[in-house]
Amino acid sequence: MEPVTLAPTAAGAARARRANRRHWSLDDIPWHAVQRDQVDRHEALFYMIAAASLMESATDLYTANLIEYFSGDDEITSWLKNYWLPEELQHGRALRHYVETTWPDFPWHKVRDGFVEEFRPFCDEALERARGLEMASRCVVETGTASFYTCLSRASPDPVLALLTRRIAEDEVRHYKHFYRFYRKYREIEQPRRSAVAPALWRRLRMTGGEDRLIVLKHVHAARRPGMPLDRRTYRRMHRQCRALMRPHFPIEMTVRMLLKPLALGPRTQRMTVPILATLTRRIVP
Ligand SMILES: [Fe+2]
Ligand SMILES: [Fe+2]
Repeated sequence: MEPVTLAPTAAGAARARRANRRHWSLDDIPWHAVQRDQVDRHEALFYMIAAASLMESATDLYTANLIEYFSGDDEITSWLKNYWLPEELQHGRALRHYVETTWPDFPWHKVRDGFVEEFRPFCDEALERARGLEMASRCVVETGTASFYTCLSRASPDPVLALLTRRIAEDEVRHYKHFYRFYRKYREIEQPRRSAVAPALWRRLRMTGGEDRLIVLKHVHAARRPGMPLDRRTYRRMHRQCRALMRPHFPIEMTVRMLLKPLALGPRTQRMTVPILATLTRRIVP
């Protein structure tokens, strides 16, 4: 009898490569293995995951003006419509599924309706005055989400949550790479000065975790603790708990590197800038 060969054929290797490139789906997550007892009493985790699930699921609300802004550039608009938006919405669905599995009493759909109603007027956010600067600013957003999910994945006491957030973090890093490539494309065309790029990055950095976070947390809190308003003291306590969980796992080097990239600094300047930015970037961790 002919021995069975285990060596991959060229066609088999190509198939494996294609399979590896396939984007993950909710079916790839072993939901049955969620260790509820490790997370269900963890308030900081609950607030962060519930808030993230709502924000991600609302991506379509604040995408329309971005796609319109790049109309005429089919490469960018088709990537935004066909890859970026579906992937962000999938993050929302997967995190929602985790919330519903782990905290089944949380009325996710009801909370989403209330959140969307209040959040909608904030979605027509101001875009940068040039396409290149807008792309640099999008790099900051993706840096924030990539760092957040990387941190969450490292901090998670539940292996399923760690896996899920790692998958999402990988997507966010890939999104960053696309936005960075598009930034370079428009940098060639528009030739922005570094003195214009740095303020665009800073503007976006300052926006991260502002009004949006407060709105979403208010809705999550109202459902979690009915009748108890999210006052300043409660918000500060919540913030402290989240920071305590996340800070030891914050991927500071990755974050700083990603934030600095659009500035194309020389190695010496970069060495001097890293410690300063390391402090500033902690702002983007919820
Ligand atoms: Fe996302
Ligand atoms: Fe993203």
